[in-house]
Parts: sequence; C-alpha cells; structure tokens
Amino acid sequence: MKDIDWSNLSFGYMRTDYNVRCYYRDGKWGELELCSEETLNIHMAATCLHYGQEAFEGLKAYRGKDGKIRVFRPEANAERLQSTCEGILMPELPTEKFCEAVKKVVKANERFIPPYESGASLYIRPLLIGVGAQVGVHPASEYLFVIFVTPVGPYFKGGFATNPYVIIREFDRAAPLGTGRYKVGGNYAASLRANKMAHDAGYASEFYLDAKEKKYIDECGAANFFGIKDNTYVTPLSSSILPSITNRSLMQLAEDMGLKVERRPIAEEELETFEEAGACGTAAVISPIERIDDLENHKSYVISKDGQPGPWCEKLYHKLRAIQYGDEADPYGWVTVID
Ligand code: PLP
Ligand code: COI
Repeated sequence: MKDIDWSNLSFGYMRTDYNVRCYYRDGKWGELELCSEETLNIHMAATCLHYGQEAFEGLKAYRGKDGKIRVFRPEANAERLQSTCEGILMPELPTEKFCEAVKKVVKANERFIPPYESGASLYIRPLLIGVGAQVGVHPASEYLFVIFVTPVGPYFKGGFATNPYVIIREFDRAAPLGTGRYKVGGNYAASLRANKMAHDAGYASEFYLDAKEKKYIDECGAANFFGIKDNTYVTPLSSSILPSITNRSLMQLAEDMGLKVERRPIAEEELETFEEAGACGTAAVISPIERIDDLENHKSYVISKDGQPGPWCEKLYHKLRAIQYGDEADPYGWVTVID
C-alpha cells in the first residue's frame, strides 16, 4: 500500500477490501461470508433502527517486527459481546465463531495492517444488529453480525501524551442499572452531547461521575479510568461502566510490576491524591491524564504537574504495547497469532 501515510493515520474510517458477515435466522447462526460491499441492505422496521438492538466491539491487530500479525485478546471481546447480547436480548455468537470471523477479516485485509515501525494498528470493529422487522417493542427474530477493519492511529491527541479532561454533570452516559456495562450504541448516543461540550471547550474528552449520586468516578468518555498512588493501581468499581479489556490487562501487568491493585468506588475528591492517572481502552491504549477540571465547582485536579506522563504510566504503556506487538513474551496467552 504505497499511498497510505501509515505514521500519520488518525482514528477514522478507511475503506478496506473485505468485511465478514454472518446471519442468524430460524434460531441458528449461518456461515461466515466474505463481502466486498460496504453497505448493508436492511428492513426499515429492523429493531436496530428503532429500538437500539445494536451491539459492537473494538479490538486491534498489530504487525510485529517479525512480520507476524497478532490480535489482542479476541476471546475476551467475544465474551463481552455475549454479555451485551444477554443484556439486550440478542442471540449470543459463540466465541469460536467470533474468533474465526476476526481471523478471516484480518487475513483478507492483510495489506491494510500498518507496518511495525509506524506504531499504528488495524482496528477491528465487530457489530451485531437486530434486522428482523418489528414494530412492537420486542427483540427481533433475525440478526446480522458484521465485522470490518480500518487502519488507525491514536485516538487521543498526541498518542502517548497527557491531555486534559472535564467533568460533565449536565448529561449522564448510563444509569446504575442501565446499559453502561454493555457495549450498545445507545450509550454512545447518550454521550454525544457531553462529548461535544468537552471538545468544544478544548478538552480531550468528557469525564463521567456516577449518574445517581454524582459523587464517584465512572469513565473518561470511551475509556476506563485508573489512578496510581502509594504503589497502588486504583480503578473504579461501578455497575455503569464498560468492563474494559485493556484495564483488565493493565491490572494484571500492574500486579506483576509489584503494584497493589484496588477496584473500588473512587470519590471525586480522591482525584487530588493521585500521583498519576490515565484513560485506557483499545482505541486510547493509555492516554495519561494531565488534569481533570470540574468547572461547576471551580476545581481543577492537576495530576501531571510537569505535563509529562508519569513513570508508572510509561512502564505500563510500554509493557502492554510490547506484548501486543510481540516484542516481549506473552505470559498469559493474550495474543493470537494469525497465519
Ligand atoms: N469504556 C468505554 C465506554 C468504551 O467504549 C471502551 C472501548 O471499548 C472502553 C471503556 C475500553 O474498553 P476496552 O479496553 O475493552 O477497549
Ligand atoms: C474502543 O476503544 O475500542 C472503542 O470502542 C472506543 C470508541 C471508538 C467507541
């Protein structure tokens, strides 16, 4: 691919050669189909269009120094998609089928996997939608699973560089007993105004508190939050945040590095006690946090005094990337090599 400027990719959509599709009809999943068409032809009464019967996932493939292609923890994404399906009454796609689809779509678009040196990756976007026609509020009887890929660069400005975030109280992303723990499109629709407010005011992303009490930390836009202090990695325990696979991996790596790991509610005031903090996710990787502003309370929690990523963020970031790109051993079998 001579004409792609791999080192300057943004986090955006680019057409690739193929996507993979699979229909659920008559109570069973069909075969995986390789497709070069970018559009879907669906019924106007499909439940995904009206009642938000839509789930998606996000994972990445990386080209190693050794030329091999690695995908990070696809089984975990398959399991989270199954949990989302349970949450909004869609049929679960078996892990094996999910992983087979990931392999198929990555292989078919191999020429779009950014080279190792670029630091970019291939973003893999699976989605599952209700396509059966329905006017009453009920789950569909037919579903379509699609998986496409697109080469991407950093999600937050500057890649591994600190950014400011802002607490938004005007809008909630998800309720405590709502769909926040599932990866459904509706959560992202609910986040659009908060996200725009934050961007318009010059912030990297919006920062959510729990919707009920507005007291505890939930998430940083489309990424989980973690803070580090006193040799402890602390991340929120909340029923309204997405269980991030990146965060789960970082908790393990932090423990391996000798940090204590705590998953518990984090009150807003505790922000001022962290020595380091970051937003983490597949797209974000680790985006170190410079400060978090609470405009209504005229407070600014400055986390990075010198504007630089802290040493633990740096170590965790490099360790995670080294496993993902195959530069270091993969002791937990997180990586699937595609050949
Ligand atoms: N939180 C939200 C709301 C997200 O959309 C994402 C992205 O998937 C994450 C957190 C990070 O999750 P993961 O690390 O599994 O990508
Ligand atoms: C991800 O990190 O995979 C995300 O889904 C973030 C965002 C693009 C929704």
